[in-house]
Amino acid sequence: SNRANKPKILAARDISSVAGYMKSKDCKNVMMMLGAGVSTSAGIPDFRSPETGLYSNLARLNLPHPEAVFEINFFRRNPVPFYTLAHELYPGKFRPTITHSFIRLLAEKGLLHTCFTQNIDTLERRAGVPEEKIIEAHGSFATQRCIDCSETFDDNDMKRHILQKKIARCVSCGGYVKPDIVFFGEALPEIFIRAVPNLRKADLLIVMGTSLTVQPFASLAERVDDSCPRVLINLDHVGSFGSRSDDVALLGKCDEVVRDLCKELGWDDELNQLWDET
Ligand code: APR
Repeated sequence: SNRANKPKILAARDISSVAGYMKSKDCKNVMMMLGAGVSTSAGIPDFRSPETGLYSNLARLNLPHPEAVFEINFFRRNPVPFYTLAHELYPGKFRPTITHSFIRLLAEKGLLHTCFTQNIDTLERRAGVPEEKIIEAHGSFATQRCIDCSETFDDNDMKRHILQKKIARCVSCGGYVKPDIVFFGEALPEIFIRAVPNLRKADLLIVMGTSLTVQPFASLAERVDDSCPRVLINLDHVGSFGSRSDDVALLGKCDEVVRDLCKELGWDDELNQLWDET
């Protein structure tokens, strides 16, 4: 389809046009793509922000390069850095943010089709986003298995090992146990692969808190139809945003942009109430 003569969906590339569109009958299926930037205000560092990002703080774990902490071959040789990070990131210690409550509010308004997240912190489900609407593209700490024989490992036993900074070993073969988090080079979960085609149904794509540097997740942003406006809520410009006539960049801290957007939508009281309950 030729983009040039597509009628512009949005009146302008600004927050009030986005709000106006979201309340129109044309906006039925909102797709979201999340990255670590939506959890930084919960106290969980992102990966690539200079100074504060995890990758600039892992140096103390003397890794050959920061990403090694999520590389299976490095883990096989030395699982200590990952287990150290897992201890710091382990779900349960962090409260979801007001941005996570916004995602739940979209679901309660019947607008959320699917929330694709790269995050392993489970804050989306902890905020009350319906589980069937969440796709954890990079897995999560929910389950774990042996990297050698794939035997699953008991959930509570794993939780105890991580909290006590002990390396869990397979009861069958003695191999190292790793949570079902997608490491670099590993396949993404089946549930992600099956959900990707649904992006065609998006009437609005909202991308929040991600550098869009990791594939195949980042490519989701290219899969929405030309007629689907794409909204970036991020500290800085990323990916191909700006290349389409209906791309809107709402730059800033996601919690602040979300508050402004909900004010425009007249949803600020509901948003605050949801967040207060979290
Ligand atoms: N508000 C808005 N944007 C923010 C905020 C915030 N409060 N904090 C950080 N950001 C932005 C950063 O500017 C950056 O553009 O969020 C983005 C975070 O990017 P990354 O740190 O690269 O995190 P992410 O995109 O989720 O990384 C993707 O890389 O290491 C792998 O598997 C890991 O899922 C992760 C993937």
